[in-house]
Amino acid sequence: MHHTMSALILVALLAAGSVAPAFADEAASDGGAAAKGEQLFGSAGCGWCHSEGGRAPGKGPKLAGIQKDDAFIHNRIKNGYPGQMPGFKQFSDAQINSLIAYVRSLPAQ
Ligand code: HEC
Repeated sequence: MHHTMSALILVALLAAGSVAPAFADEAASDGGAAAKGEQLFGSAGCGWCHSEGGRAPGKGPKLAGIQKDDAFIHNRIKNGYPGQMPGFKQFSDAQINSLIAYVRSLPAQ
């Protein structure tokens, strides 16, 4: 019972990080790469550390309004950061580019 509850909470948290109905239309209008990135962001569990789909800090920093260049972001996603963020070496360049498009589509605020 306790175990099941934990799993449900985990699923709810992961979903909260990836679901953003208001934003979905915006992403679709810029060609779909950002929308693909948003899906991947959710399914890969990025939201576990980058809260509210990257709009708020969590275990990891807020990603909205990121000032780093594409090469930096690409490398961070692919190789991670020792002890802090896992690398996602299994992602293709196209997948990583969609994640970059998604992160850049987030309003900086
Ligand atoms: C286990 C927690 C964790 C997960 C999962 C995670 N990250 Fe991170 N991420 C971090 C932490 C912590 C940092 C800060 C490390 C550093 O100094 O660059 C970070 C840094 C970043 C940065 C650089 C931010 C900046 O301003 O320098 C990007 C971009 C990023 N993550 C994207 C992602 C994406 C995309 C995913 C999913 C594919 C992901 N992260 C999954 C914890 C995580």
